[in-house]
Amino acid sequence: MSKKPLILGIESSCDETAASLITENEEGLPVILSNIVSSQVEVHREFGGVVPELAARSHIEKIDWIVKKAIDESGRKIEEIDAVASTAGPGLVVCLSVGLSFGKAVASAMNKPFIAVNHLEGHALSPKLNSNLNYPYLLLLISGGHSQYLSVQNLGEYKRLGTTIDDALGEAFDKTAKLLGIKFPGGSQIEILAEKGDPQKYKLPKPIFSKGGCNLSFAGLKTAVLKISKTIKSKQDKYDLAASFQKTIEEILYKKTKIAFREFEKINKVNEKAFVIAGGVAANKKIRSMLVDLCKENNYKSIFPPLDLCGDNAAMIALIGLEKFKLKEFNNLDHPVIPRWALDESAYFLKGAGVKL
Ligand code: KG4
Ligand code: ZN
Repeated sequence: MSKKPLILGIESSCDETAASLITENEEGLPVILSNIVSSQVEVHREFGGVVPELAARSHIEKIDWIVKKAIDESGRKIEEIDAVASTAGPGLVVCLSVGLSFGKAVASAMNKPFIAVNHLEGHALSPKLNSNLNYPYLLLLISGGHSQYLSVQNLGEYKRLGTTIDDALGEAFDKTAKLLGIKFPGGSQIEILAEKGDPQKYKLPKPIFSKGGCNLSFAGLKTAVLKISKTIKSKQDKYDLAASFQKTIEEILYKKTKIAFREFEKINKVNEKAFVIAGGVAANKKIRSMLVDLCKENNYKSIFPPLDLCGDNAAMIALIGLEKFKLKEFNNLDHPVIPRWALDESAYFLKGAGVKL
């Protein structure tokens, strides 16, 4: 039996401090040995959002014991690690710096290669952690910081088909939750309130619904929710607004995903088409079941990474480390933090006010 690489992955791009050890089996498929995630939700709750300075301080306090716990739980020893992979971007500079520096220090002390990882690449390849998925596949990444459709051609090769021109979908969920009086991060509570509400009660806008290909926009929707939230009087009104918001998002994703299917098929001729839905919002059960049905209608296999691999984690960072280790794609110890780092560098930057489609 040949010795399989053992990779330590470290993640600290936003408000989760995470470390993971992975290796691979005889078939060359990844095996997660440990996957430790420490969330800072409590640190930021009273501020209603992530405070970068506090997030960085919390990463500094936790990172060494998180990494130690990941090594202990893996049943392996630090000396056995073949390479260290840390998230280098995109994300908050002060947060990224913690995991990046820590990873470099471990690699340097152990005299092992260092690999700088794009966090989005981790999300994009995360379904490979538990399913034998072939390239190319279509990816919808919906998280607190990103909302995009990508055609995943290969490791390091991505074509962006659509992106948000303003807010990320998770951000829209969290802001709506805040307006409904739910504590940060309340995005996951919306679908629970929505179950008790009437989705037809409030008519909400669907920005760039009939134009802009599979690009997305949620800022106008958020403004509409803000206006309506000022008029609500009862608990039932709250449930109805949550239900109307949830329904509107489902309608937007239904339409835009159908467009993304066609765009994906224009650039890829594949018999077995696969659609991966990753990022924290992929935990939304109603969105999941709508997309599963849409996949069936369009002859796509739908794939959801398990919930603990949907949100931010270090197993996905270690996975990119593993793939790059096998290709001997290492980075120098002076590798910078890259706060804005697109997966498809040829795609133009669309986010921001005043963008016209
Ligand atoms: O991927 P993630 O864990 O972190 C990053 O943003 O990178 O995503 C977190 C986002 C938050 O905005 C959270 O409110 C949202 O995912 N989220 C949900 C649900 N669970 C988490 N949004 C809607 N429905 C859910 N069930
Ligand atoms: Zn993420």
